[in-house]
Amino acid sequence: MTHDQTKLVHAARKSAEASNTPVHRSSTVLFHSLEEFHAAGKEWGKDEPYVYGRISNPNSREFEDAITALEGGYGAISFCSGLSAISCCLLAFLSSGDHLLMVDTVYGPTRRFCDNHLKRLGVGVEYYDPLLSADEVRKRIQANTRAIFLESPGSQTFEIQDVPAIAAVAREHGVLTMIDNTWATPLYFKPLAHGVNISIHSATKYIAGHSDCSLGVAAIETKELWSRIKRLTNDNGSCAAPDQLYLGIRGLRTLDVRLKRHHENALRVAEWLKGRKEVARVLYPALPNDPSHGLWKRDFTGANGLFSFEFAEALSDERLAAFLDGLEYFPLGYSWGGDKSLAMPCHLKGERTATPWEGTNPMLRLSIGLEHPDDLIADLTGAFGRLGG
Ligand SMILES: Cc1ncc(COP(=O)(O)O)c(C=O)c1O
Repeated sequence: MTHDQTKLVHAARKSAEASNTPVHRSSTVLFHSLEEFHAAGKEWGKDEPYVYGRISNPNSREFEDAITALEGGYGAISFCSGLSAISCCLLAFLSSGDHLLMVDTVYGPTRRFCDNHLKRLGVGVEYYDPLLSADEVRKRIQANTRAIFLESPGSQTFEIQDVPAIAAVAREHGVLTMIDNTWATPLYFKPLAHGVNISIHSATKYIAGHSDCSLGVAAIETKELWSRIKRLTNDNGSCAAPDQLYLGIRGLRTLDVRLKRHHENALRVAEWLKGRKEVARVLYPALPNDPSHGLWKRDFTGANGLFSFEFAEALSDERLAAFLDGLEYFPLGYSWGGDKSLAMPCHLKGERTATPWEGTNPMLRLSIGLEHPDDLIADLTGAFGRLGG
């Protein structure tokens, strides 16, 4: 069997002439006979002839085929962003009167999509604790439950879910499962192999890897599910731009080596933070004493550079600003997964309803980049020094 490292470099190279498939910026596919014109688009499938740039082109097909090679399933579909991938997958299956079980630690904008739009369309959205056992999830399944959405580890607090057990329960009840698998990337966790139906990524993060691209993708188990999502994207016009797909493919080629360094650097910084008196706890499943470490070790084959930590005391806005504003290598920013480190204050109040966040001390999320970890630690040492008190 071909290894993932080889797939990353070679999967789905569509160009016979060039090492890298060029960017196909064409909206229009040309047909050379009426017969060809009428035949195009008649069949539904991931390998059908190109019809129109918005529906597929060599760049989307190359990217989608590479994701399928890594995650399995029938095929993948690309989107203009991770959030577009999430909202389209939900919309493709949920109708008025359906019930959705949504993990409470989901990425904030996914929660907003549910609260502002799915509920308006008549979908019942119930948030559940990410640490529920599969049996406890089973108790929440109702006759009209259509889907269970997972995100593992959860946004900002990094709880790992028992994905295989929840997926098995969902299958017993004929309920669809979808997971936001962005943190793991297609390398470190394989949801479809663990029984999940749809694995969704913000490729904006580690897949593209350089904070210069907006891209999403879903790997889908069966042709039936794939066709249902593709039907929606054809009808609502969701698609990824060819330049962004090019960057996604280029990112995949080096994903393995970058992730190893992100993981190594993050572990160094996380271990160091754990030893600081100013830090109450570090939330990073790759740390041996993290509550999610057991599940992470069982199901994942690696970690990345993203984790949070909680200060040991309440801080005034001025002290937190003194900590953050003087950092040289951690500018503030919402994203993660790029080559450069980033910091972001966590906002958990109101983001959790099934498991209200009780913490009062500030928390920061760090995306550890590819810098030398000693430089990052020196930068953070200076920041702790500025806290005073
Ligand atoms: C876990 C998670 N999923 C999805 C997204 C959305 O990604 P995008 O910015 O590509 O829409 C993000 C973005 O931060 C994220 O953190």
